[in-house]
Amino acid sequence: MTRRSVIAQLGAITSLLSIGSTTSAFAGPVGREIERLISKIDELSGSLRGELISVADWRAGIDELLSSVPETDLMAGIDFDGLASKIGFAELGVTTARVDFGSDETRTLNFLPKIFAVDTGRSIIPHGHANMVSAHLPLTGAFRLRQYDQVVRDTRSLIIQPTVDRLIGAGDLSSIGEDDDNVHWFIAEEPSYTFDVIVTGLADEADHQFEIFNLDMEAAEPNGNGRLRVPTMSVSEALRKYG
Ligand SMILES: [Fe+2]
Repeated sequence: MTRRSVIAQLGAITSLLSIGSTTSAFAGPVGREIERLISKIDELSGSLRGELISVADWRAGIDELLSSVPETDLMAGIDFDGLASKIGFAELGVTTARVDFGSDETRTLNFLPKIFAVDTGRSIIPHGHANMVSAHLPLTGAFRLRQYDQVVRDTRSLIIQPTVDRLIGAGDLSSIGEDDDNVHWFIAEEPSYTFDVIVTGLADEADHQFEIFNLDMEAAEPNGNGRLRVPTMSVSEALRKYG
């Protein structure tokens, strides 16, 4: 399925929805724009969890949707200033907050919207995933982003293949697949924030279990064909070493 067709197909469905139409916390033209965006992300993520679209389609669709809205509009729509001042920065690693959309507590989204705050030199520690995918949009700041395919996983290590190593700034979306680009590592070059779309329950719509594998990248060993075997480590160890 092409990028265009993913979103075009969703458009036909979304027009039938009235999510948040009476209880919306979004006001004015920007509010409506962000409400439409959230509905589309929700629908795309629901389609992924329901196995109507592939992970590749989801990644392409999220990219298209998030690039259609200026970061400043998104920040206004999610009360970025309020969230950022509430969570501050962590001395190691990140602080995060769930983004709340509107007053309709009964509404359940197919994705978890969050913001991450990462101070200069701090990082979203290197890690891989199972049974989840995510997308990360820098809102302000800059990161060195590295990503790797997850090739093989055993109980103590992951074999990974480098795919991305670049500087990113506001608007440079990155996402992970189930295997492709599944491992990521962000080091903030300046005080930075991301808007994150997280989808769990890929294997079973009713089960939101997922796993995170923190990686000791300094202990990586070559595994042939440019691949690396990297031991896993606990969150506390990983934060001490890489946070
Ligand atoms: Fe992650």
